[in-house]
Amino acid sequence: MMDVKKIREDFPIYQNEPALVYLDSAASALKVKPVIEAIDHYYETLGVNVHRGTYDLTYEATELYEKARQKVAAFIHAETDEIIFTRGTTSSLNTIALAYRDLLKPGDEIITSELEHHSSLLPWMMAAQKTKAELKYIPLTKTGRITVESFKKVLTDRTKIVAITYISNVLGYQTPIKEIIALAHEKGAIVILDAAQAASHIAIDVKDLNVDYLAFSGHKMFGPTGIGVLYGKKALLNQLEPVEYGGEMADQVFQTHATWKETPIKFEAGTPIISGAIGLAAAVDYIQTHNLEQMQAYTLKLRDKIVNDLKAIEGITIYNPDAEIATITFNVDGVHPHDIATFLDQDKISVRAGHHCAQLVSHFLNVQSTLRVSLHIYNDERDGNLLVESIRRAVAFFSGFTKESL
Ligand SMILES: Cc1ncc(COP(=O)(O)O)c(C=O)c1O
Repeated sequence: MMDVKKIREDFPIYQNEPALVYLDSAASALKVKPVIEAIDHYYETLGVNVHRGTYDLTYEATELYEKARQKVAAFIHAETDEIIFTRGTTSSLNTIALAYRDLLKPGDEIITSELEHHSSLLPWMMAAQKTKAELKYIPLTKTGRITVESFKKVLTDRTKIVAITYISNVLGYQTPIKEIIALAHEKGAIVILDAAQAASHIAIDVKDLNVDYLAFSGHKMFGPTGIGVLYGKKALLNQLEPVEYGGEMADQVFQTHATWKETPIKFEAGTPIISGAIGLAAAVDYIQTHNLEQMQAYTLKLRDKIVNDLKAIEGITIYNPDAEIATITFNVDGVHPHDIATFLDQDKISVRAGHHCAQLVSHFLNVQSTLRVSLHIYNDERDGNLLVESIRRAVAFFSGFTKESL
């Protein structure tokens, strides 16, 4: 179904690190050759600014940059001028929270969840503190899911903002977002969706979802670091004030006041992330040639095998065996996740240990931290087998210590 051997040839890291067992794609996916080539091409043949000059090289660079915007727009079924390039999901979500902060007042309500990555939670927590709006949490189910029913429990006539994750970066659960958006809109609230984990796993259609704002990062979809996307409905973006001021975004500047260009340029103050956008376009191309549904079916099948094998090891708690993406979050009884991760690293196996920048999820699970294995299309059954074998040895090794001595 997936020719992993061939896919690995597209990821130069495997030529440089043949023994690598990379299982941390939810943090950052590996980088694919066409992305690296597209970035090199820009720096080797152009390397100039966009939107500014009146010479050939800058026209060409501008064309590549704007084509990248078109490609990203098509990828999520948006209009081209609804795509703002940012530094990443964090920067996209902060931009929206800052822009809406001046529009909130005491008594307004912001709905979020304990599943949020800090970059989806903290900007709104700070906005709530500044404006005396109330931050409300959707009650999670026993296994940590957001449901439409639980969302209804916190939605009121005072709800102004709903800021939630599309797919949790810790538990891999997908939010039933379409129904939630429809309900929020009935109350006149706007919905901001953190799609950082969704973008390289499921097809995103902003029109079908009718979502107001959506954010994701290039580096989680085989693209470069330092580039991300903020999608916003054009009618909403047109009403918003920019949060950063500087080069290119101003239309007319006078001594006491200024006017802004149209969206999206109004939100891209200063020299944009030109090489990043060009690299991101190449990443989108790569994903589209591989078909998200096939990729998803492949990684989930691999996930199921690993989950089954892990279940056979005594003392392992898996928190999300039925997640919608191939992210496995678990703990080994009596052993700190960092110790297991360090043990695995000696076998060249890269997994994540910690709270994954989502401390409320750890609080919800009533643990300090967890181990997280996250798969992508370059992983294969051998990776899974090496992981399970190494964990088995880690468990045996650490069982030699008493709890007290640890
Ligand atoms: C669900 C989610 N939201 C937001 C982010 C933040 O993304 P970035 O660090 O690229 O800004 C991440 C990254 O881990 C994430 O997984």
